[in-house]
Amino acid sequence: MDKIVILTGAGLSAESGLGTFRDEGGLWAQHRIEDVATPEGFARDPALVHRFYNARRAQAQEAQPNAAHEALARLQSDFDGEVILVTQNVDGLHEKAGSKTIHMHGELARALCSTCEHRWDADLEMDGDTRCPACGQTTARPDVVWFGEIPYHMDEIADHLATCTLFAAIGTSGQVYPAAGFVQEAQYAGAETVELNLNATDISRAFATHHIGPASQIVPEWVDSLLA
Ligand code: APR
Repeated sequence: MDKIVILTGAGLSAESGLGTFRDEGGLWAQHRIEDVATPEGFARDPALVHRFYNARRAQAQEAQPNAAHEALARLQSDFDGEVILVTQNVDGLHEKAGSKTIHMHGELARALCSTCEHRWDADLEMDGDTRCPACGQTTARPDVVWFGEIPYHMDEIADHLATCTLFAAIGTSGQVYPAAGFVQEAQYAGAETVELNLNATDISRAFATHHIGPASQIVPEWVDSLLA
């Protein structure tokens, strides 16, 4: 039975109005990573980090899935085989489109207690007074994986990469590991590899096939070719 593993990045949500990280004017051009996406930054100024994620959470809540998200949900429901969707994105647009998703970098919609590690559905706005519903401490943080932290579900993802027949990376710059190394793992397993992106990336040469263009156009076309 064919098994497709798909890795998505911020480029998938760009046409839904959510900023990418490394494109012109992207999030990392507006904020220093060390201030808003590291445990040290959170320890230094939790209010700043909460403000950053509150703004992204509000934006993500308003955003709608685009044709690329919808096409991937259709692939998951109609493909005669297994389709595993792994995302680096913390927005909930894959879920809004009906996909089952592995969030390796966590989710804006979830909160984590730094004291007892309890997780719960985050309020739209979090701040330094947000109490953990389990232990009552005011040590809540966004349940998002920061630089220097270990991404989630890595064992499960490794198993999928070792047994897939096709690996696709969509809308990711391939600049952040371990996600950028998934194509090698899939290749070792003998899988076909395809990259779908607006431009060439640092890891394009690792893929056998490439589709270039906006995700809302090339992803539905790619899904149609798989379901034909
Ligand atoms: N259609 C397809 N691809 C697009 C589009 C589009 N409309 N717009 C942008 N892209 C591509 C860009 O060419 C780029 O390759 O999306 C990619 C966005 O790259 P990044 O901004 O680096 O986002 P991503 O690869 O998801 O970043 C990975 O880095 O900062 C951390 O945790 C953060 O999950 C993030 C990780």
